[in-house]
Amino acid sequence: MVTYIDAASAPNRNTGVIRLHDAEAFDGMRRACQLTARCLDALAERVSPGVTTNEIDRFVYEFGRDHGALPATLNYRGYTKFTCTSINHVVCHGIPDDKPLREGDVVNIDVTFIVDGWHGDASRMYPVGQIKRAAERLMEVTYECLLRGIAAVKPGARTGAIGQAIQSYAEAERCSVVRDFCGHGVGRLFHDTPNILHYGRANEGPELREGMIFTIEPMINLGRPHVKVLSDGWTAVTRDRSLSAQYEHTVGVTATGCEVFTLSPAGLDRPGLPA
Ligand code: MF3
Ligand code: CO
Ligand code: CO
Repeated sequence: MVTYIDAASAPNRNTGVIRLHDAEAFDGMRRACQLTARCLDALAERVSPGVTTNEIDRFVYEFGRDHGALPATLNYRGYTKFTCTSINHVVCHGIPDDKPLREGDVVNIDVTFIVDGWHGDASRMYPVGQIKRAAERLMEVTYECLLRGIAAVKPGARTGAIGQAIQSYAEAERCSVVRDFCGHGVGRLFHDTPNILHYGRANEGPELREGMIFTIEPMINLGRPHVKVLSDGWTAVTRDRSLSAQYEHTVGVTATGCEVFTLSPAGLDRPGLPA
């Protein structure tokens, strides 16, 4: 049984009911998500060969600090960094370190800023210098998956419509969808009900209603979908070491479709790819 609750009267923890947010919440989310998007914009010219992911992490911390925001990942379930930086065959939750990025790498940078209690969660792929055509194609397919997932969002549809739109396109492009991680409700909580699967069928999952806010963040592989988590407890990699890509937006369901809160004000939603 799925239940929905007016977010303003719900307890501030994940109780398994789906929150329906009001206009004030949409406003708060717009502000948090736009700060996250501006930070991801600023990273576009900073990602290049020789830069370390710890330097990227530090930049994100300082950007947040200078704009009155805290990164949500710090101390989240024991995580100690401000971002996740996932390179090449790393699917997600890569931990920033002191290794320099190398020409030809592709890196996902995932940022979640908290502004006035609202969480703005987004990630993009960044090419490091000149990259191979296969990597570029995977990034194009993955962003298109995200756009098709977003296009499926409207009141009355089910969450499964998002998954079906993503899976059918990814597999038609001979890529695979990671099953082990999903999108999620977001707002005053970082990870809330419902889960947004990036695979499945349109008649599955809870019905979408106006006021719901969640992320869509497909992870798409060039090879097989299977992942494993390394001994650091975080870093998820493809088992076959094939290349993996991910883009993430935070969206809010409106009367007729959805609003994408994390759109880049600079048109840099797909850094390094033709607009
Ligand atoms: N930002 C990630 C997401 O999209 C979550 C990262 S949690 C961390 O949901 F602890 F790994 F940082
Ligand atoms: Co997320
Ligand atoms: Co994220």
